[in-house]
Amino acid sequence: MCGIVGYVGPDEALPIILDGLRRLEYRGYDSAGVAIVDGGLSVVKRAGKLSELERALDEGAAARPRGATGIGHTRWATHGEPNDVNAHPHLDCDGRIGVIHNGIVENFAALRADLEKRGHRLVSDTDTECIAHLIEDAFDGDLVTAVRDVVPRLEGAYALVALALDDPGTLVGVRVSSPLIVGMWDDGEAMLASDIPALLERGESAGERPTIFPVHEGRIVAVSREGVAMLGLDGAPVELRPLVVDWDVQRAQKGGFDDFMAKEVREQPDAIRDTLVGRTDERGMLALDELHLPADVLREVDKVFVVACGTAFHAGLVAKYAIEHWTRVPVEIEIASEFRYRDPVLGPDTLTLAVSQSGETIDTLEAARHARRQGSRVIAVTNTVGSSLSREADGVLYTHAGPEIGVAATKTFSTQMVALHLTALYLAQVRGSMFPEEIREVVEDMRALPDAVRRAIELDERVRAVAERYRAARDVLFIGRHTGYPAALEGALKLKELSYVHAEGYPAGELKHGPIALIEDGVPVVAVATECHVYPKMLSNIQEVRARGADVIAVATEGDEQISALADEVLFVPRTPELLSPVTVVVPLQLLAYHVAKLRACDVDQPRNLAKSVTVE
Ligand code: F6R
Repeated sequence: MCGIVGYVGPDEALPIILDGLRRLEYRGYDSAGVAIVDGGLSVVKRAGKLSELERALDEGAAARPRGATGIGHTRWATHGEPNDVNAHPHLDCDGRIGVIHNGIVENFAALRADLEKRGHRLVSDTDTECIAHLIEDAFDGDLVTAVRDVVPRLEGAYALVALALDDPGTLVGVRVSSPLIVGMWDDGEAMLASDIPALLERGESAGERPTIFPVHEGRIVAVSREGVAMLGLDGAPVELRPLVVDWDVQRAQKGGFDDFMAKEVREQPDAIRDTLVGRTDERGMLALDELHLPADVLREVDKVFVVACGTAFHAGLVAKYAIEHWTRVPVEIEIASEFRYRDPVLGPDTLTLAVSQSGETIDTLEAARHARRQGSRVIAVTNTVGSSLSREADGVLYTHAGPEIGVAATKTFSTQMVALHLTALYLAQVRGSMFPEEIREVVEDMRALPDAVRRAIELDERVRAVAERYRAARDVLFIGRHTGYPAALEGALKLKELSYVHAEGYPAGELKHGPIALIEDGVPVVAVATECHVYPKMLSNIQEVRARGADVIAVATEGDEQISALADEVLFVPRTPELLSPVTVVVPLQLLAYHVAKLRACDVDQPRNLAKSVTVE
């Protein structure tokens, strides 16, 4: 999704802003631009990657703009195609006010019509440009006041940053649902950004980490060399509360791998271990006080809802099997973007688990807000400290995966499953639906996961050979039963998003109700066939597709002696109890998608059309 960076301080703004934007590339974008106050307001913007913007800056008639105040943006198109004109920053009629913006202004068509009627000249197709012109109308020498006047006229969910040539040295930011943070250094240097990595990079090169202040919902922030002022929409000052950040920029580098995804797949054993650390007491029982939900509330829960999108939804589906089995509480899992529009039956006796690595996915955030409004308690399972979801939920369970830069979720998926398993066990513990001995046994099984995942990663070369064999496939089916089903869904999602090969995941028993018509000679079918209580049924499903000419790639349990006779390729993973098995099974599926994508020369870290954090509905 779009990235925001603003700088004001003693140094040259342009290189700092470009560094910050580079740190935000992982969010996904399709154009980029900067505006620097250097006497006038110099604006350079280009469709494409940051390298295109750099080239334009180098090839420009004038030298690169030099000035100590500026803003920069990476755009992921929502209104208007990704081209040079639609890229941010956007300017007012006189080119004296610049605006960058994440999110959507929903009433922009009406605003634009009104502006044009009053003689404003708008040149782009974006909603953002309206904001610059509205500020132009409201501006009377003080940018904060002008922005405050404009905000009530904007409907939607967004974050924006504005600067004005006639109020130089001040950046004004606003947060309405989309994330925005401020970093402040002792020497009167400050930055505004949509995400923390943009600031930590500057922290490294300046030799000092900034103090980070999150901009809270509905707040306006004014940043200058003199300091930071946070205001409510009524103009009343609001106290600044710093955020403690322990993420290390080094951990966000590629660490010797070709891409972030390759590195992040290999970080899964550590990420899972970190997610388990500190969540059990000396007796091996769950200790999740961080959920901030009293035991008697959890004992009263008569239904659990899980809301999530994409890969996080698949983690939620795995959790449904575990929660229902361990607690006997019914679980409804729903794609977050559908949830609030179907009037689900929520209430004080329901618990909603909102799963989102970014904690900023607007669909999940809105689903969680809806659940809370209806009286449900909400637990956020997220990887992002200080994210909107974490702040709005009743309780939070963090996945300690560290920053995930590759757009495709890998280590955040495995840690989401682990965090949800912990939550399920905790529910079982407080409700007494499992004996302490049984809980301890599962906890022991979970402690073995990092090693099982490490061994699954060792399949890399073998998976690459399978990818070579099927790299030209047009369609691939993924099938599984029980917890093998969400694993199959995730395998299919990874393959389609990374390699652009058409892939679908199905419950294996459902094939005969339609999808089996797709099977013909040589169609690859990836079958999750690890040890579980429906294993014999899975073997029958494999035979059904084999009989119709499919090539079967099975993911099976080490030591399985039957499977080789039924499959063209077998990827053996370590034995893992069936409710936990997707954590191990997904590794060869991630690697398969990775290698097919690399062999087809696709960008695995930034697949086309996708964004790391989806902050529009
Ligand atoms: C797929 C992927 C997406 C996300 C989805 C939700 O690899 O990354 O499907 O899982 O957009 O994102 P979060 O977890 O940030 O809510």
